[in-house]
Amino acid sequence: MTMENMDIKEAIRDRHSVRQYKTTPIPEDIKTELKKLIRSCNEESGLHMQLITDDPECFDTFLAHYGKFKNARNYVAVVGPRSLSDLGELGGYYGQKVVLAAQMMGLNTCWVAGTYGRGKCKAVKESGEKIVCVIAIGYGENAGVKHKSKPVDKICSVPEKDMPVWFKNGVIAAIMAPTAINQQKFHISLDNGEAVITAGKGPMTKIDLGIVKYNFEAASGHKCR
Ligand SMILES: Cc1cc2nc3c(=O)[nH]c(=O)nc-3n(C[C@H](O)[C@H](O)[C@H](O)COP(=O)(O)O)c2cc1C
Repeated sequence: MTMENMDIKEAIRDRHSVRQYKTTPIPEDIKTELKKLIRSCNEESGLHMQLITDDPECFDTFLAHYGKFKNARNYVAVVGPRSLSDLGELGGYYGQKVVLAAQMMGLNTCWVAGTYGRGKCKAVKESGEKIVCVIAIGYGENAGVKHKSKPVDKICSVPEKDMPVWFKNGVIAAIMAPTAINQQKFHISLDNGEAVITAGKGPMTKIDLGIVKYNFEAASGHKCR
């Protein structure tokens, strides 16, 4: 296992949604590093993700307070062209890449599709683009808590005793992935030595799918389909 691989597995394990933040701003060098990563993700995917800092308004809404958000004033807006047929999945995949990198930089995050002010979001939308969701980012007052998870056999059709080591690592990381309202509506199988992950029906399941695929690939070192 490489050192890099080790770090990302720790980041996957340690990441939990954090909704209460300290007022500590994100230092310039960390902002620069995040923006560099976001730029390369955008070039690779066609997304238009943006880091927006020092903007308390986006989370100054009834819904955000109801969702117990506090001092959330930095976020990554996940934006992209409506013409991308897999916009939700791409947003999930590349957004999670940013989330785990942020975790390794000592930051905390929370994926947010509902409890923010959509109209107050400062993201630039070019014509034909839409906001998929945002990701709150900052220094947490706490590290969050481990979510309850469905049992492995509800998520994966391969019996644990038959799982190759890389596949098992991927499944464990998939189960630790954030999903909307912790719905975990995805399914993992093994087809001709390749992992196949599919989304269940319902809102946000495509974003979840991208997030889960990123976690699986990062921890297993294997591409999935
Ligand atoms: C696509 C997506 C949308 C989400 N939207 C919200 C939201 O609007 N408000 C909120 O408080 N949490 C939101 N969450 C966070 C989930 O509730 C959280 O990831 C889930 O309960 C699992 O907990 P964990 O992230 O701590 O592992 C969202 C998560 C995802 C993946």
